[in-house]
Amino acid sequence: MKEHDRLVATGLVVLMVILGLGFLVHQSPRFAGSAWGGALGVSGAVLMLVPLAYLVIKRVPPLKRTVTRRVSMRTLLAWHVYAGIVGPILGLLHTGHKFDSQLGIALTALMVIVVLSGFVGRYLMGQFSQTIRAKKEMLTGLELVYRQTAGELAAHPEQVAIVRPLAGFWSRLMGGLLLARPAGVPATASAPVRALRLSESMADLEYAIKTHEAFKRWFAGWLKFHIIISFVLYGLLALHIWVGIYFGLRWFR
Ligand code: HEM
Repeated sequence: MKEHDRLVATGLVVLMVILGLGFLVHQSPRFAGSAWGGALGVSGAVLMLVPLAYLVIKRVPPLKRTVTRRVSMRTLLAWHVYAGIVGPILGLLHTGHKFDSQLGIALTALMVIVVLSGFVGRYLMGQFSQTIRAKKEMLTGLELVYRQTAGELAAHPEQVAIVRPLAGFWSRLMGGLLLARPAGVPATASAPVRALRLSESMADLEYAIKTHEAFKRWFAGWLKFHIIISFVLYGLLALHIWVGIYFGLRWFR
């Protein structure tokens, strides 16, 4: 189910980016104020309020208890994600790619950034955690085999002499180049060769885990970022609606 959600969300985000880039080839200055343009704008704004409703439900315990009796938080998050992408798509269609005012440009840019930050947090962070978990499991398996191999080597000190010259950094590097490295570590390889290949594989895995953990740390602040820019977005959206009603109705009168 999560895989299906991820595919649909990715497709919608790609569609949103393509629609956003549409301003390079298309502009319709009067569309936003037309009946269809207005309907798209209002529908987009209403959908963009769904994530705000999610926040209120999540953070007001009595409301959360009442709502989750009928709908799970997981389902509410899925609504948040879909409404949070489809709303900005309708918002983009509403613009007719007319980006004349600073408010309009800022609102459109923020809409896209909020969606992208949500997408990164929801799917890429999960991916990082999954990859780190899988690599740690692999590392634990290799450490086990390495300990057995080290035990074998300890029982045959003459074999340790074979790998001792490869203990330094440069000789280690040369050893790695000279020794052919088939995929995996065959159990039939001699203990010194196995120890060498295992230590290389473990070092590679440790490096990959550290890199993924560093990425995860960099993105750890994503939710704070996502919430803060969401509120700036709601502020600008309210201003945009107020400007539309104030000036629109003034001219109407
Ligand atoms: C108009 C677009 C969006 C707005 C205004 C918005 C706003 C918010 C807000 C205010 C929160 C904080 C909820 C809380 O923890 O109290 C939040 C959380 C979150 N958002 Fe969005 N969001 C939008 C789109 C998206 C999209 C497109 C995705 C993913 C594809 C997404 C994924 C998430 C996730 C995973 C959380 C954390 C949920 C949790 O931990 O309970 N958001 N969003």
